[in-house]
Amino acid sequence: IVQPVILCGGSGTRLWPLSREQYPKQLLRLCGDHSMLQATALRLNNLPLTDGARLVPPILVGNEEYRFLMAQQLQAVGVRHAPLILEPCGRNTAPAVTLAAMHALGEGDDPVLVVMPADHVIQDVDAFLGAVAEGVRLAAGGRLVTLGVRATSPETGYGYIQVGEALAEGAGFAVAKFVEKPDALTAAAYLQDGGYLWNAGIFVFKASVWLENIRLCRPDIAEAVEVAYAGRLLDVDFMRPAKADFERSPSDSIDYAVLERLAGSGEDSGAVAVVPLNARWSDLGAWSALWEIGEKDGQHNVLMGDVLAVDTHDTLAVSEGRLVACVGLEGMVVVETPDAVLVADKAKIQSVKELVALLKGSQ
Ligand code: GDD
Ligand code: MG
Repeated sequence: IVQPVILCGGSGTRLWPLSREQYPKQLLRLCGDHSMLQATALRLNNLPLTDGARLVPPILVGNEEYRFLMAQQLQAVGVRHAPLILEPCGRNTAPAVTLAAMHALGEGDDPVLVVMPADHVIQDVDAFLGAVAEGVRLAAGGRLVTLGVRATSPETGYGYIQVGEALAEGAGFAVAKFVEKPDALTAAAYLQDGGYLWNAGIFVFKASVWLENIRLCRPDIAEAVEVAYAGRLLDVDFMRPAKADFERSPSDSIDYAVLERLAGSGEDSGAVAVVPLNARWSDLGAWSALWEIGEKDGQHNVLMGDVLAVDTHDTLAVSEGRLVACVGLEGMVVVETPDAVLVADKAKIQSVKELVALLKGSQ
């Protein structure tokens, strides 16, 4: 059994004002006909499977607050009976995946989980499916597999994977070292070195293998989540872990909690493996990423919605309703929504995070 798991928990503050806490970015329709959540749920549909293997509906792990939006969006694209695991609060991705693994094992099988963030854009779906299929093969043999993309800038918000030996049984490599979110100098050195890939944040492993490793690396998380899972409440497709116990779990990510610790540490250097992903992957972490993947006009502008531009270059302008008119802009971001307008220098767009922090503080 191949069991997709979609992580749909973050609020995406760097896409303010479009992604508010009331409406996180994975539920937005930023490019194409579907929201990023919908695109994620549909993407695995044509996964090539070996004989006897079977793809089941995705498990969604997300916040209680967005349960109806998430359920509605899945139904709208024909994804039915997807179990929704509702977290009472965000504890980052390690507890979220632990819940999903327990739920998946609960069915009596030991499925291979394909863990995907709901907020990525992947333009070459065939290449993506090829990499996942390879990941599934390696994971079936007990490995923890992550997908790696070619690093193109010294980005500090990603995990870096040092590629080790090629594995005998396929297109994967051992992970010699995994470093989550290095500082700027380290990231620049990794980029220069050339032997590192960015971690795409897409993981493939058997449910039992994840549980074994989280118990080993973070028994505190495993224990709190186990108790929360044991006390769960079921309501049709909604599953709620026991609130107080889940809240007790420390907050940590898959990357810090398990991958960094395991990669390159054991006798089996391929226990953590990486499969290269060359699928025009993008973490829509900030507005500049939307400009990068968007369809550009002759002046390298990406204009979405009711937007007019004169003598404007390298600019992203998004209108949700009102007409946005741009004159003489160069490398700017303009985003109009009913209750807020963002005007920013595209080169400094990462600072929207600080803006959001400021707004939160003043409320
Ligand atoms: N259900 C749930 N609960 N989902 C969560 C939670 C949570 O508490 N926290 C985050 N998520 C979801 C986010 O919505 C996102 O889809 C995904 O998990 C990853 O979380 P991020 O917070 O976006 O992680 P990141 O971008 O800092 O880093 C990860 O992704 C990078 C690539 O985009 C890491 O895996 C990095 O190593 C990787 O390079
Ligand atoms: Mg992210």
